[in-house]
Amino acid sequence: YLYPAVAALLAYLLGSLSFAVIVSRLMGLKDPRSYGSNNPGATNVLRSGSKVAALATLLLDGLKGWLAVVLVKWLGLRYGLGDGTLALAAFAVFVGHLYPVFFGFKGGKGVATAAGILFGIDWLLGLATVLVWILVAAFSRYSSVAALACAGFAPLFYLLADRGPWYAERSIALAIFVMSALLVMRHSANIAKLVKGTESKLGSKKSASS
Ligand code: G3P
Repeated sequence: YLYPAVAALLAYLLGSLSFAVIVSRLMGLKDPRSYGSNNPGATNVLRSGSKVAALATLLLDGLKGWLAVVLVKWLGLRYGLGDGTLALAAFAVFVGHLYPVFFGFKGGKGVATAAGILFGIDWLLGLATVLVWILVAAFSRYSSVAALACAGFAPLFYLLADRGPWYAERSIALAIFVMSALLVMRHSANIAKLVKGTESKLGSKKSASS
C-alpha cells in the first residue's frame, strides 16, 4: 500500500496549489477570494478583467489534474501501479483543489482540474466533456451551468464508451462519479443563484458575493 498512499499524498499536495490565488498574486491582481463569487477559480479570475490571468488559472489548474493522472500512468509501467492507484490519485488531486492544505482548505469548485483529470484518463473523454462545456457555455452564457452539464455527461461518456483498459476499471468509474457529485455540491451557491436569477453571466464583472 506504500505506492498508492504516496501517490495519493503527492497528488493531494499538487491539487492544493490553488492557481487562481497564485497567478493573481504573481500578476499583482486582487485575491479572487475577495470579489465576485469569492471562488478561487478561472471563471472568477475572469471577473478581475484579466483574460490572461483567467486563462493561466484555467490551464494550470487543468494541468495539475492531468499531471497527477499521467504520472501514475507512466510510473505504473515501471512500478506496477494499478488502475486503483490511478483512480486514487485522480480523486486526491481533485480533493486537493477543493480543500487545499496551503490555503486554509478553502479551494475552488473543481471544473478545470476535473477536465485535466479526464484528459489524463483518456484525451477523447476530456475532449468530449470540454466540448459539452463549450456548447452549453456558448448557449447559456453561464459557466456554472456548463460545468453542471459536464458533471452529468462525463460519467455517462465514461460508461458508454469503451476505449481500452482505462475504461474497464470500476475504481476509475467510481472516481469520476464521486468527482462529479462533489463538483455539483460545490456549485450549490451557483444553483441557488440560478434559481433566483442572480447568477452572473460569463464575461460580466458583476456578481453578487456568495
Ligand atoms: O468554475 C466554477 C464555475 O463553474 C463557477 O464559478 O465563480 O461563477 O462561482 P463562479
